[in-house]
Amino acid sequence: MHQAVIAATGLHTPDQSISNTELVDAFNNYVERFNAANAAAIEAGEVQALAPSSPEFIEKASGIKSRFVIDKAGILDPDVMRPNIPERPNDQISVLAEIAVEAARQAIARWGKPASEIDAVICAASNMQRAYPAMAIEVQQALGIGGFAFDMNVACSSATFGIKTAADFIASGSARAVLMVNPEICSGHLNFRDRDSHFIFGDVATAVIVERADLAPPSGEGAGWEILGTRLKTQFSNNIRNNFGFLNRAAPEGVGAPDKLFVQEGRKVFREVVPMVSEMILEHATDIGVDPTGLKRMWLHQANINMNEMIGRRVLGRDPAPGENVIILDEYANTSSAGSIIAFHKTCDDFAAGETGLICSFGAGYSAGTVFVRKR
Ligand code: COA
Repeated sequence: MHQAVIAATGLHTPDQSISNTELVDAFNNYVERFNAANAAAIEAGEVQALAPSSPEFIEKASGIKSRFVIDKAGILDPDVMRPNIPERPNDQISVLAEIAVEAARQAIARWGKPASEIDAVICAASNMQRAYPAMAIEVQQALGIGGFAFDMNVACSSATFGIKTAADFIASGSARAVLMVNPEICSGHLNFRDRDSHFIFGDVATAVIVERADLAPPSGEGAGWEILGTRLKTQFSNNIRNNFGFLNRAAPEGVGAPDKLFVQEGRKVFREVVPMVSEMILEHATDIGVDPTGLKRMWLHQANINMNEMIGRRVLGRDPAPGENVIILDEYANTSSAGSIIAFHKTCDDFAAGETGLICSFGAGYSAGTVFVRKR
């Protein structure tokens, strides 16, 4: 059995962003038009009038102030309210693979080794843009990587499931190094006409290189992070669901079929996922002999400020000090599988050898994954 390390990470952030005020202005414009167009039916009690959204509610309920997106214009156009992502010909790289490659190139540059030393690529994300060929194989080809590649989808937990899969490939000798990418164009599956959820997600891509420990420098620059333990858990729930699929009707152009986009029972998710994840973290820590109160930092899935703070308190047994429980969702919103990796990528550089941290994700399924790491 080989030990695995997280050797490097990369992050691609789209160059366009939308503030809460901009998002709410577009939503409220749509609401006004809808209510005006349906005034008679609303008056007759046949149609329910739509209620406006508010930036204050969004920030208070979620902690989100803005989100990055790959197409701002389409989302903010009240006649469109979805990103304009033109279909590309088959001989051009797909948009999901393109942003994954951007993040991967950054991770490979930080790693400082040629891509040919990677033996596998995993594309772990919430929403693949097509059935096949796998996005991971497209990324593999674009980067000149050998070996094998495949896609996997465990919703917001995809990155920790991907890291564990990579670490298991390393342990068994199937690969020397694995590239795991998380391209998340969440704006493509978000219903921007739904007041309850139109603010939740943003777009981004992250990349993680998991490598055999004995191939990485033992200390100093490039030594990486020893993976102390990985654990996965799933438990079926309909409370976060998206029925879009190849056997179901296509995603709607307009307001029809909202179940083919993201839908959730936010309060139930909050109530059920917080205890499930907190207990899982504490049990896993105990089982591998890590003192959770001694963690220098937690990089949790960026779901919602209140959920993250509650899990942070339960794990540390006190209010986390600033920076201990990293929050990036104020700027990025929920970026599904990429959230915990963005947090890790942006705030892991000040660790001294021996210090420990936790990457943890959770989401639809339900699903949750924990990855305890120690700086080498
Ligand atoms: N603008 C203004 N008001 C809004 C609104 C909006 N965009 N959306 C909802 N409201 C109103 C509701 O109408 C309701 O009003 P009422 O009390 O008069 O009936 C009130 O705000 C509370 O609505 P509710 O849906 O109960 O909000 P909430 O406080 O539960 O917050 C979430 C909603 C989604 C932010 C919250 O449930 C949550 O974060 N859950 C965790 C789920 C999660 O993060 N999932 C991501 C996938 S992992």
